[in-house]
Amino acid sequence: MSAPVLSAHDLVVRFGGLVALDGVNLTVFDGEILGLLGPNGSGKTTFFNVVTGLYTAASGKILLSDDNINGKSPQQIYRLGITRTFQRSRLSLGLTVFDNMVLGNYQRLRMGLWFNLLERKKLKAQYDEMVDQTHALLHTFSAPLADKLFQAAGTLTMIDRRRVEICRALLCGPRLVLLDEPSAGMTRDESSELMEDILQIRGRLKPFTIVIIEHEMNVIRHITERCIVLASGKKIAEGSYAQIVADPQVQSAYLGRERT
Ligand SMILES: Nc1ncnc2c1ncn2[C@@H]1O[C@H](COP(=O)(O)OP(=O)(O)OP(=O)(O)O)[C@@H](O)[C@H]1O
Ligand SMILES: [Mg+2]
Repeated sequence: MSAPVLSAHDLVVRFGGLVALDGVNLTVFDGEILGLLGPNGSGKTTFFNVVTGLYTAASGKILLSDDNINGKSPQQIYRLGITRTFQRSRLSLGLTVFDNMVLGNYQRLRMGLWFNLLERKKLKAQYDEMVDQTHALLHTFSAPLADKLFQAAGTLTMIDRRRVEICRALLCGPRLVLLDEPSAGMTRDESSELMEDILQIRGRLKPFTIVIIEHEMNVIRHITERCIVLASGKKIAEGSYAQIVADPQVQSAYLGRERT
């Protein structure tokens, strides 16, 4: 197995009296697609939120390679190469696809009043470079979508909006991408299409690691190489898709053994 890229050690996140993550230990290995599963409210999104600096853990460590990143700001985490998508769409529907992608990556731009006012040629060059990069990335994902770069995000279909959000997370060339229910709200066919896109784009870009939260078991089976299951803020199982669906603790966490 490859080297760990991210690991959580006895991670605890509390909201008042509620313990959303209760001593979680897990490792994400370099280059893998790891599924993070669990019933509603089990702590999956909280894990993404604490890794990306939106929350700070009450105790425990989050190591990116060997550095503890707990307590770092979302901007610092982004610069360290971790990006994400959100469970609920975070696109500004009135803005263009390009604006949405750049807004999500403004940390890469050399901005500032003096640069923008005095370095007009460099500003234009930077703008042109961003147009080229965003277009190329969208094109890799879906050629027709690249033609919509200057369309308002609100005019796109749901699946295209989700593609834009994923591309926004990929634009900076991250080492670790966290996808929070990318197929939520989609039909089964659309989910399969999106997962194929993700697998394809992964083969074409600089290698990166994916942690994906999903409820759709067909998607999990198809896309993940390994799974970790949370329930009530604790890790209850870990292994291949076949191993976790056969696990009695997982079956009882999902109530009713119907998800095999
Ligand atoms: N900001 C917050 N303030 C208070 N409680 C929170 C907050 N964020 C999450 N929680 C609580 O923490 C627990 C875990 O929530 P989380 O969103 O991580 O679950 P989840 O596994 O992502 O669920 P779902 O599958 O429904 O998205 C839940 O009980 C939730 O209500
Ligand atoms: Mg969630």
